[in-house]
Amino acid sequence: MLDILRNRRSIRRYKDKEIDPEIVDMLKEAALRSPSSRGINPWRFLFIKDRTLLETLSQAKESGSSFLKDARLGVVVCAKGDESDVWVEDCSIASIILQLTGQSLGLGSCWIQIRNRMHNETQSSEDYIKEVLHLPDGMKVESIIAFGYPDETKEPIPREELEYEKII
Ligand SMILES: Cc1cc2nc3c(=O)[nH]c(=O)nc-3n(C[C@H](O)[C@H](O)[C@H](O)COP(=O)(O)O)c2cc1C
Repeated sequence: MLDILRNRRSIRRYKDKEIDPEIVDMLKEAALRSPSSRGINPWRFLFIKDRTLLETLSQAKESGSSFLKDARLGVVVCAKGDESDVWVEDCSIASIILQLTGQSLGLGSCWIQIRNRMHNETQSSEDYIKEVLHLPDGMKVESIIAFGYPDETKEPIPREELEYEKII
């Protein structure tokens, strides 16, 4: 696990290569194994491979989401807000579990923040995504995790650069 954490970096450039379906299945299993408060599992995961739809979703924010158009999978992490008062935490845990599982399987990934972000001056990123994906009222959108085989390399953060002063 520490090796996975050491090597994980946000990857925003992806090879033009379909993700092995068995790997997608493992990502689904990993998402569903995420712990959640009181075991309520308020999350829903939309696994999106359609490239036209990924291109549309890549416009969810004015910046910080455009690379989704070149990803080969986007997982929209959302929740039924009325099922749990801590759906944000539950969705965040599931998001990072997806990323770390992807890392362990040779994928690159990057978190795209949706909650509390804007699509433009008048529409939230969440409402934009709900419109595009026809999500029901009451559905909350936390993030989209972009996945693909990495087409960039990033060095691990050196251990001496870790902010050990933040550990008391
Ligand atoms: C909660 C959260 C939200 C993030 N939102 C975005 C985002 O919207 N767009 C993006 O390109 N990266 C996003 N990132 C990735 C961060 O920018 C990245 O993790 C950080 O700069 C550290 O770099 P590293 O992941 O390579 O270690 C997000 C990461 C987290 C944990």
